[in-house]
Amino acid sequence: MKPEQQPRPGKRALRIAFATSELQPFSKSGGLADVSAALPRALGRLGHKVQIFTPLYPGARAMLDGLEAEHNRIEMPHGIWVDGREHALAFAALELPGCEVIFVENADYFDRSGYYLGADGRDYEDNVARFSFFCRAILEYFLFTGDAPDVLHCNDWQTALLPVYLRSQYPQALLQRIRCLLTIHNLGYQGLFPAQAVDQAGLSWDLFHIDGLEYYGQLNLLKGGIVCADAVSTVSPSYAREIQKEEYGHGLAGLLRAQSYKLSGILNGIDTEQWNPEADPLLVCNYSAARPGGKADCKRALQTELGLPARRGAMLLGMVSRLDVQKGVDLLIGAFEHLARLDLQLVVLGSGDPRLEEELSRLAEKYPKKVAVRLGFDERIAHLIYAGSDAFLMPSRYEPCGLSQMYAQRYGSLPVVRETGGLRDTVRNAGSRSLEAGTASGFVFKKASPARLADAVRKALDLYKHKGKAWQRLQKKVMSLDNSWEGSAKQYVRLYRRMLRAAEQNAHAEGKVVNAGAPDA
Ligand code: ADP
Ligand code: GLC
Repeated sequence: MKPEQQPRPGKRALRIAFATSELQPFSKSGGLADVSAALPRALGRLGHKVQIFTPLYPGARAMLDGLEAEHNRIEMPHGIWVDGREHALAFAALELPGCEVIFVENADYFDRSGYYLGADGRDYEDNVARFSFFCRAILEYFLFTGDAPDVLHCNDWQTALLPVYLRSQYPQALLQRIRCLLTIHNLGYQGLFPAQAVDQAGLSWDLFHIDGLEYYGQLNLLKGGIVCADAVSTVSPSYAREIQKEEYGHGLAGLLRAQSYKLSGILNGIDTEQWNPEADPLLVCNYSAARPGGKADCKRALQTELGLPARRGAMLLGMVSRLDVQKGVDLLIGAFEHLARLDLQLVVLGSGDPRLEEELSRLAEKYPKKVAVRLGFDERIAHLIYAGSDAFLMPSRYEPCGLSQMYAQRYGSLPVVRETGGLRDTVRNAGSRSLEAGTASGFVFKKASPARLADAVRKALDLYKHKGKAWQRLQKKVMSLDNSWEGSAKQYVRLYRRMLRAAEQNAHAEGKVVNAGAPDA
């Protein structure tokens, strides 16, 4: 682990609050959880003071109870009114290396089996109230402790009400100093609710108009966040460009174009300690770019565990994914019919859309010696797949960043991806020129169709079967790529400082002193 750094001379350490609805290892349904754990730690390593705010779900409560580290419980003497009821305000604060986690408690809202969906697969009806409470509890925490951050970093629709509340309901000087960044991890999820949710969220109807939170007659939380935040970012430069086009804008392209002056794209990194084949305790055998031998053992173990013939020569394709149209799972199902006769095997771990779960299960029944499917969320099997597969599939229709392709690279599994969003920014196609120049880092196809995906897999298979040395060189190369958080964390710090400087300049222009603690950068 790198030693803690100090901010550059002349720059003071920033105080950053990071608000997120998922935090690995306490809660996770996708990459947001990984980012929420790794980015704050990377910011901490750069010498900044970071607090993470996240809901206390049952899994997190159980882990917290089992942790040896002491946590502090903070109860406030007053509650807040949300959706016609008073809710107590209580928090559990836990010191972790490089940052502090503050769990927001509310048994009514967070003691449930899912984070956003009930057992019937449908959104909880009171989601707007649940995350409205979460956001307001964070602001109340700052007021209660009398200590507010320089920057409040919000993530996705679940925390998009924070900048809205800051703009409309919390005039206190302590809170008005805060600059707010909203990061969009996935524009496909906007927090859309019927108009009457305006009341549940405790918002004024004055905000319910086309330039505010109204979206075709509904309440759109992400839209409100985009409008009210001081800056908006997304998780790759390519996705930041794509979402300004109708094709990828999920109905908000026009708004994002209009707000493009405050929109940027910063590529996610990966936690290279947690995702390290050299030390990963979940693997049967550890290995590295310098000593790759153990990967063959991992492949055999994966084939055996998932009930496939342990054939070394067959190219093993892996996929670990939410099962959602976004991820192009249907493209894979279609493509497999073109691929079934080739010498390859496929393992898929995923959960989500019941229709896709069923179609995948049918594929596995049809090709029992070639296809193995595990439905569910399983961290251990995910690691086994990254390590045991030869190639890793991400045929996404859109992909804001994608972490899985970077985990696959680190574990020497060559990604086969569609050219979109963060996949475009992290995977360079293995053509003859890029292979020769040593710049290739996977296989890339453009059009979202089963046939094009099948073509890309055939190219990978050709290299695997007939150009063993080139395959190994490529494998070694991708294992040594630097996808760590450090560079991206520095970009976030520069963005935070720009936001604070802009606020200071505005205040000077207006003749006010807004942020007494503004950076001297
Ligand atoms: P997204 O956030 O869109 O789901 P990412 O690639 O950014 O996509 O992150 C996905 C994360 O979730 C990775 O850490 C991946 O390993 C994990 N993941 C996805 N599905 C599963 C699953 N069924 N079991 C275990 N981990 C999963
Ligand atoms: C979202 C995106 C994914 C991204 C992740 C973390 O879930 O779908 O592409 O990597 O968030 O930012």
